[in-house]
Amino acid sequence: MFSIVEHETLAPQVHRMSVKAPIIAQKCKPGQFVILIVDERGERVPFTVSGWDPEAGTVDFVYVEVGDTTRQLGAMEVGDSLAHFVGPLGLPAQIDHYGHVLTVVSGYGVSAIVPILKALKERDNRITTILQAPDPQTAFGREPLAAVSDRLILAAGTQGENAATSATLPIRELLAEHPRKSIDRVVLMCSICLMRVVSEMTRPYDIKTMVHLTPLMVDGTGMCGACRLTVSGANRFACVHGPEFDGHKVQGWDVLMARRCTYADDSLLQQGFQCRGCSQW
Ligand SMILES: Cc1cc2nc3c(=O)[nH]c(=O)nc-3n(C[C@H](O)[C@H](O)[C@H](O)COP(=O)(O)OP(=O)(O)OC[C@H]3O[C@@H](n4cnc5c(N)ncnc54)[C@H](O)[C@@H]3O)c2cc1C
Ligand code: FES
Repeated sequence: MFSIVEHETLAPQVHRMSVKAPIIAQKCKPGQFVILIVDERGERVPFTVSGWDPEAGTVDFVYVEVGDTTRQLGAMEVGDSLAHFVGPLGLPAQIDHYGHVLTVVSGYGVSAIVPILKALKERDNRITTILQAPDPQTAFGREPLAAVSDRLILAAGTQGENAATSATLPIRELLAEHPRKSIDRVVLMCSICLMRVVSEMTRPYDIKTMVHLTPLMVDGTGMCGACRLTVSGANRFACVHGPEFDGHKVQGWDVLMARRCTYADDSLLQQGFQCRGCSQW
């Protein structure tokens, strides 16, 4: 059993949980994730690690309440235990000295990106972060983001009404100044729609653009094929080959988006699919 040592609410339906898991805390790297099961009848659900403390033996993640398991998590208290907590899973994010890194985050990505940005800062990168949120009031996690960014831009739009548009405005302005004020790398941990849009925006400039893809996962170890996607014509599993991928090499975004939303709304699978504002991701 894995005990919950901290549990706090960051915004409506958004929480941070800290779990005692000493072995995972020793091994975690930025960009990796865990899979937990709440109780013996529970489902396996993945969460990106947003922090860890090897000395205290704790692992943190931030989650959004969207369905049964995340609501069940929301009702748990400090001192309660999770039946299973497995990790770290997935490949760590690529970290090197690139120069100026532009990052775009939304939803739980606001917190889950922090270890990646911290590691990029340690390699002397200059970081511009765009935080996409439905509105300024519900934009959580600004302070930790600001601490690892040289510049933080809040892009707040109305949820469901072209929320992605507001993040694309500052991106367009920054791209207009490239290469005079160069952008050397882009890292995206936001809604799948926004990751797709930004990847297309940076493609003509040939700026390496890394996306953090989170298709539905079952085992998280490359065995079930649930998280399959196509990258440069080859089959890849997000759980073992990712979750970070080169956004310019990802193929079949439509399929990814439709599969991601399979349980959200059947109509998303029909032709003429229209985004209904899943920018919470
Ligand atoms: C590698 C990885 C890392 C993730 N990291 C985080 C994280 O740090 N914080 C966080 O809040 N969530 C994260 N997710 C998404 C999280 O796993 C789902 O929100 C969770 O499984 C939903 O479970 P549920 O039973 O509450 O909802 P369900 O009833 O299973 O689903 C409710 C809604 O959530 C959608 N959903 C389910 N799974 C996913 C998914 N994998 N990606 C996107 N939408 C999904 C469904 O389509 C549906 O609309 C991650 C997913 C992956 C694959
Ligand atoms: S979750 Fe089963 S292969 Fe990735």
